[in-house]
Amino acid sequence: MRIAALADLHCNNTSHDWMRPLIMQIAQSADVLLLCGDLIDYGLPEEAMVLAKEISSLKIPVLAVLGNHEFESGKPDEVKRIISDAGAVVLDGDAREVGGVGFAGVKGFGGGFGERALSPWGEETVKRFVHEAIDEALKLESALARLRSETRIVLLHYSPIQATVVGEPAEIFPFLGSSRLEEPLNRYPVTAVFHGHAHHGTPEGRTKNGVPVYNVAMKLLQHVFPDHPGFRIMEIPQSLESRHNE
Ligand SMILES: [Fe+2]
Ligand SMILES: [Fe+2]
Repeated sequence: MRIAALADLHCNNTSHDWMRPLIMQIAQSADVLLLCGDLIDYGLPEEAMVLAKEISSLKIPVLAVLGNHEFESGKPDEVKRIISDAGAVVLDGDAREVGGVGFAGVKGFGGGFGERALSPWGEETVKRFVHEAIDEALKLESALARLRSETRIVLLHYSPIQATVVGEPAEIFPFLGSSRLEEPLNRYPVTAVFHGHAHHGTPEGRTKNGVPVYNVAMKLLQHVFPDHPGFRIMEIPQSLESRHNE
């Protein structure tokens, strides 16, 4: 199975021109497409319609998580419905199996990494901020627990590790992800993790337990993969797939 992954398309009303060739190239290169959030720019339903039109032309399964930009206009449910009606499966603490490969997805949240991560201490607002990340990590954990496949792929928008946000200004690291998202990745046998949000981050890193983490923000990938500008391809070996089907 060839998995194409990308994030941070930031589609708006004028994106048809560059989206069409991108979607066509994905259709020729992959068996499943993962969209890791910030699919549209201001969270507007009309932007989602632009994306939906392109997605609906794809014959391969599309799995997605929302990003922070999908929330900007206060209409994430409407945006989710438009994208879902176009055939994409939007994961929010959900798990799906496609061709014997398991996928778990959640948006995630910020809060920072390692010992310097924000703690739920002091003002109520700080506690709420931290609990948002904890809740997202719990949703990811329960999605992973539901998967029975040998291969488990995770979609996030925010990063679970610091390594793949390096390249961004250090001052904004805490807004780009949270180590709390890493905990479930180390508790379950996860094959690979894809995320976006850090447009100027680093393409690859690993969790403490060695799980590969890929930052698939489109701008970043346009420089890294000239053959597949804007998306990343990962191949799941045939032997693993056939074992799932037994
Ligand atoms: Fe983004
Ligand atoms: Fe984002």
